[in-house]
Amino acid sequence: MSAYLSIDDVGMTFASAQGANFVALRDIDLKIAAGEFVALIGHSGCGKSTLLNIIAGLLRASKGGVLLQGKEVNDPGPDRAVVFQNHSLLPWLSVYDNVKLAVDKVHGKTKSAKERDDWTRHNLALVGMDQALTKRPNEISGGMKQRVGIARALAMEPKVLLLDEPFGALDALTRATLQDTVMELHAKLNNTVIMITHDVDEAVLLSDRVVMMTNGPAATIGEILDVKLPRPRNRLELVTDAEYGRYRQAILEFLYARHRAPAHAA
Ligand SMILES: Nc1ncnc2c1ncn2[C@@H]1O[C@H](COP(=O)(O)OP(=O)(O)OP(=O)(O)O)[C@@H](O)[C@H]1O
Ligand SMILES: [Mg+2]
Repeated sequence: MSAYLSIDDVGMTFASAQGANFVALRDIDLKIAAGEFVALIGHSGCGKSTLLNIIAGLLRASKGGVLLQGKEVNDPGPDRAVVFQNHSLLPWLSVYDNVKLAVDKVHGKTKSAKERDDWTRHNLALVGMDQALTKRPNEISGGMKQRVGIARALAMEPKVLLLDEPFGALDALTRATLQDTVMELHAKLNNTVIMITHDVDEAVLLSDRVVMMTNGPAATIGEILDVKLPRPRNRLELVTDAEYGRYRQAILEFLYARHRAPAHAA
């Protein structure tokens, strides 16, 4: 049986203006099942965003390719919604209109005006933003902006949700709250998620598998950790959980002992 999302032998070489080619990624093979939550972790510059952008169809791989339900990914599409670290809301539109715009675009032909309005409100309610519909992006906090970004992505009913360090710019407390929101949404909607993170605890807490990448140039998958902690997961209980500690240790060991950041490499 073929995988839901299949990343086959992907390599990425960037041509530079000086004529020298830069090999960012090589030999990336990854099969992801429907409903799986996968974290991508690795040092800065190893190619995580490049890989995510290839899956999103925003970049074309130089080698290999990506299949979603057996269909080749060549362009961006609403079946693969992306949430970036820096909220990409349109500043002149309200919270409601930022989500509604995407809803109209994706569901304009399939849902009635009333259904699209309901669907916009429903998705904003899912992330707890239904009380701020008329606010503009500059009137809400960073965490709230990311919530709206997630609502907008979910409203597109993507087959795969791609998150590129969505909480990277947030303080630890807001980050924890949003991680809980994402966990609840995943439990409720069972969507397939690929999330880039630098945060070891975030990776273990949220994921079914943690994909650890080696350093670039020519970065690839170094190791994959299966996180078998039962769900629902509770961050407070996990702090003292021995198995959680072992997963955490395995990632730290990979990142800081075996694949140290290039600047610190011997
Ligand atoms: N358009 C491009 N042209 C040339 N090189 C690029 C381009 N995009 C990315 N790179 C290079 O590819 C490598 C991987 O970049 P990428 O942004 O994927 O890293 P990352 O793992 O997401 O890093 P970070 O954690 O800092 O976001 C880097 O060395 C980067 O300089
Ligand atoms: Mg990146």
